[in-house]
Amino acid sequence: MKNYFYILFFIPVFVKAQTTFTEHVAPIIYNKCASCHHAGGIAPLQFTSYAEIKKNIGMISMAALDPKNKFMPPWMPDTKYSHFIDERVLTDKETEAIKTWIEGGMVQGDIAAEPDLPYFPKGAQLGKPDLSVSMKESFLHKGNNEDEYRIFVLPTNIKEGHNVSAIEIVPGNPKIAHHIILGLDTTQFADGLDAKDEGYGYSQYAGFGFYPTYYNWSGWVPGQKTRFFPDGISNYVLPNSKVLLQMHYGPTPIDAWDSTTVNVYYSKKPVDRFLKGWVISPNDIKDGPFFIKANTKPTFHAQYKVVGDYSLINVTPHAHWLGKKWEVFAVHPNGDTTNLIRINDWDFNWQNFFSFPKFIKLEKGTIIYCNVTYDNTEKNYRNPNRPIKNVAWGESAKDEMFLFYFSYVDYKPGDENIDIAGSMNSFDAIYNAEKKCINVFYNLAENTDVIIKLCDAKNKATNLIKNKETEIGKHGTLISTETLKPGTYWCKFSTANYTESKKVVIP
Ligand code: HEC
Repeated sequence: MKNYFYILFFIPVFVKAQTTFTEHVAPIIYNKCASCHHAGGIAPLQFTSYAEIKKNIGMISMAALDPKNKFMPPWMPDTKYSHFIDERVLTDKETEAIKTWIEGGMVQGDIAAEPDLPYFPKGAQLGKPDLSVSMKESFLHKGNNEDEYRIFVLPTNIKEGHNVSAIEIVPGNPKIAHHIILGLDTTQFADGLDAKDEGYGYSQYAGFGFYPTYYNWSGWVPGQKTRFFPDGISNYVLPNSKVLLQMHYGPTPIDAWDSTTVNVYYSKKPVDRFLKGWVISPNDIKDGPFFIKANTKPTFHAQYKVVGDYSLINVTPHAHWLGKKWEVFAVHPNGDTTNLIRINDWDFNWQNFFSFPKFIKLEKGTIIYCNVTYDNTEKNYRNPNRPIKNVAWGESAKDEMFLFYFSYVDYKPGDENIDIAGSMNSFDAIYNAEKKCINVFYNLAENTDVIIKLCDAKNKATNLIKNKETEIGKHGTLISTETLKPGTYWCKFSTANYTESKKVVIP
């Protein structure tokens, strides 16, 4: 008998896998920055290639990696407090990966591994709209490096009202479109304001200059994805109404023209609930009046008691330049607390409506606490008043506001399980080396025919999948790559109204 004697060595091998641009950094920056930092986008620099990112790495470190002064990507809500759809944040892991890459000498890596740039939609993302209203003439935003706030009145010219399952805003010039808020109105009031102001539209810093029928009908910010409401839930468009398009044009050194379009999609399915809205205002402040004395930093505390069982969908805090901090939470009748939103450094320029990934149930009797801090001192570099003065409520940039809008529907059992984020078109294709196949995932916002093609570098289709009458919701399918040569392929996804393609590298 032989004796076998095993000695197990454990040899520690410190292999520091190299962090490369194509494999580690490009996916982060392309997904988290390029939506604004691309040739047609709102941001001043482009981050769409190795060379562009390497050249600007000093600025990128300062703006996005340095915890002391990072302000990119722009995202106000504190992600340690609550979460929203389409959050624009770099995670700690992503920040570390970029830092490691810089320390390692910014190696480019295998060019074939570089991911495709994401899809920057131009035109309608959700397909053919039922109603499309556009600015009737192009508007000139002057190249004077200043912000401009302008309202355009767009008649819908419809004689009947409709249930609406999505509202999509297509900015005519994404290089200057900083944010857009829509109202809907049935009076002639806005036409009067337009007539009084020279040129197309009228200038108005915040709000619409009056209270329209529907204040917060919809909105848009750069990089935002448009979604259909979950089944059975609807907004509406009124007969003979006008869309009020409030445009914030960002600063530009050269003259720029814009003509923006609003696409409206009518509900194709039965509707049992309509979107409702409410606003918490200075009427709800417990320690008012709402008046901000010079050289003070007051916090106002408002409370609002919910009058029915609600499913909360989104929130829109609104203040001007003295606004600093927001903390809003709900205390349920059983004493439980749900955090809604915290903003540690309010910035008027990045206001938005923030949508929860799932409905938040607010039972009748829930109290929403809304605490807002203002800074009316010289230290607040955004303070528009020099010298510092007392500030009261008003619609001009030098006045202040305290408004917390929220949208909800009446609660229905099961709302907790509805995936609000899912109600949009999306597509992804990922190579699975182990199984020798491509995993294709897609989500449909409407019932539609689907075509998925895998094309080689010469655009020749090596694989074709056609799915007729595919249902709303998430789907997955596999494409075997066993017979394919190594190389770069494109997986192309299309429905009647939507196309997207992803690069897939088979090693
Ligand atoms: C939602 C749009 C948006 C996203 C996403 C975004 N940026 Fe920006 N970025 C801007 C705008 C607009 C400016 C111009 C200054 C401003 O408005 O704050 C800017 C400015 C910058 C600047 C400074 C340029 C200067 O001249 O000072 C850097 C650097 C920058 N961004 C890096 C990034 C990085 C890195 C990311 C991703 C991690 C990112 N940004 C994501 C919109 C965006």
